Amino acid sequence: MTVSSAPGKVYLLGEHAVVYGEPAVLCAIDRRATVTATARDDDRIRVQARDLTIDGFSVEYGDGVVDESANIDVPHPLIEAAVGYVDGAIEQVREVVDTTGFTITIESDIPLGAGLGSSAAVVVAAIDAATREMGVELTPEEIAQRAYRVEYDVQDGQASRADTFCSAMGKAVRVEGDDCRPIEEPPELPFVVGFDGSAGDTGTLVAGVRNLKEEYEFAADTVRTIGDIVRTGERAITTEDQRELGRLMNFNHGLLSALGVSSRSLDAMVWAARDAGAFGAKLTGAGGGGCIVALDPTPDTATALQYTPGCEETFRAELDHDGVRVESE
Ligand code: MEV
Repeated sequence: MTVSSAPGKVYLLGEHAVVYGEPAVLCAIDRRATVTATARDDDRIRVQARDLTIDGFSVEYGDGVVDESANIDVPHPLIEAAVGYVDGAIEQVREVVDTTGFTITIESDIPLGAGLGSSAAVVVAAIDAATREMGVELTPEEIAQRAYRVEYDVQDGQASRADTFCSAMGKAVRVEGDDCRPIEEPPELPFVVGFDGSAGDTGTLVAGVRNLKEEYEFAADTVRTIGDIVRTGERAITTEDQRELGRLMNFNHGLLSALGVSSRSLDAMVWAARDAGAFGAKLTGAGGGGCIVALDPTPDTATALQYTPGCEETFRAELDHDGVRVESE
């Protein structure tokens, strides 16, 4: 039995635009997906997922057959996406090791589809646990590359390397096209996360931005401007200027909203954070619902979010210095 885990993430700046080659900066956070892989005597592969806000979700693989037995309380497209991610991770494992069977159990304290990188963390941890269980040790970079291929397929070829690279490497990362690098000595930022209890469909949201970008030159300009915000933000990271970072996050949220990927509850949480005195706040990840991230060293934003209609949960997040790691072998 092998247990591996990988962290979720927040986008400090740059989601969506990163799909089109603009830079993005992401920070791994101390919420992880944990995957247990156990070799089996037969050639079947059984996947069980717990705590993915999907009750009793279970997928059985054998001879290429996928059988979903479900007691499910989240929208169906999300289940299809979740199955796609798990299925893709298994395919990657099968490219690396002989196809003996194993059971994979997934536990996660990252809400599914909420912008905190749950799918990337599950895929990264699953590839690591299953390959190690079969006696193969991949580097975090190799795992990131394989996990990216999974996201690319599930999102119909419209995915960046950002989420999977951040989850595999931990700490903070900068991604621009194929150029992925860790940020040495990232600042410890006072992240506060607000979660509205819902989820967005990444594939649909990414396609929506692409359509806007193709239809309107000013939407394409908006995407490029997000890239400019990220480049400006990199200087603020180096100087650890949290106020400047907050201002840039506010700007970034406004542009994401213009691109149609915010929602009423995300906007309400962003404004609650700003009114409470946060340096800045924005949605994180694909949007459409899910999480916002704010910068506030005081308890005021968390308190305000607790009383914000539409906010279901709020918590402080710390930078996670570990990427994918083996928990037990
Ligand atoms: C989703 O977490 C982030 C997006 O930029 C998509 C991607 O980078 O693949 C919206």
